[in-house]
Amino acid sequence: MVSFDIVGDIAIVKYREDGDMEKIANEILRRHKNVKNVAVDYGVYGEERIRKIELIRGKSMETIHKEFNIRIKVDISKVYFSPRLATERWRVVQRVKDGETIYDMFTGCGPFSIMIAKYRKVKIFAGDINKYAILYLIENIKLNRVKGVYPLLGDAKVISEKIPKVDRIIMNLPHNSKDFLPYALGAIKRGGEIHYYEILPKDHDLTSRFENLGIKNVEIEDVHRVHEYSPSKTLFSFLLKVI
Ligand SMILES: C[S@@+](CC[C@H](N)C(=O)[O-])C[C@H]1O[C@@H](n2cnc3c(N)ncnc32)[C@H](O)[C@@H]1O
Repeated sequence: MVSFDIVGDIAIVKYREDGDMEKIANEILRRHKNVKNVAVDYGVYGEERIRKIELIRGKSMETIHKEFNIRIKVDISKVYFSPRLATERWRVVQRVKDGETIYDMFTGCGPFSIMIAKYRKVKIFAGDINKYAILYLIENIKLNRVKGVYPLLGDAKVISEKIPKVDRIIMNLPHNSKDFLPYALGAIKRGGEIHYYEILPKDHDLTSRFENLGIKNVEIEDVHRVHEYSPSKTLFSFLLKVI
């Protein structure tokens, strides 16, 4: 059986040249009674990290996904969302203290921000360059009745220079987070923490990653593997302390 993700009531199956996608879709619908739609995923593209996707069963690309007691409304053909990060989001929540100011640099439809705001009393600037992401974030704030999340439409390079200095930054743009590190470092207080995500070869030298990028004022507090990205690459989560 092929691997697939379930977002709300949509099963998202990676396209396989050698697979009979119609047969796979029928099998998923037969086995998972909560799945009402099946979409074939041809990969994530462009700056907005949007899936090229085709619905082959059901009627809707919009759904409500539940994780750790929050609800995330999203149209998977318009906004990036991955259910595989649920545990990672929960790990971030555990790190956050009441009273913090946070910048969720690449918020998407807001799963990190919504989960943090659900469990902590904080102020979060949540930015994204994709207008649909921000529209769904606004819906998700209402849906979860959370307070303290401020949606900001625009480029992180501009937003980071407009907001007040924050205690914590979430950088969930694993393909090119490194290009935004100087902006994050300009937007954070000394002693602040950055949750930095990057896809790297499995055997990459992680300890000297930031020295190699020419970044001197961070220390790696923790690093762990979030999930496999491909046979040779892994999505890593770094917890960085700004010194
Ligand atoms: C990998 S997605 C992560 C979304 C969200 N954090 C999540 O966990 O579902 C990255 C997001 O960054 C946004 N993005 C890409 N470049 C950006 C930029 N320069 N400024 C602001 N947002 C950007 C994309 O539109 C996309 O929604």
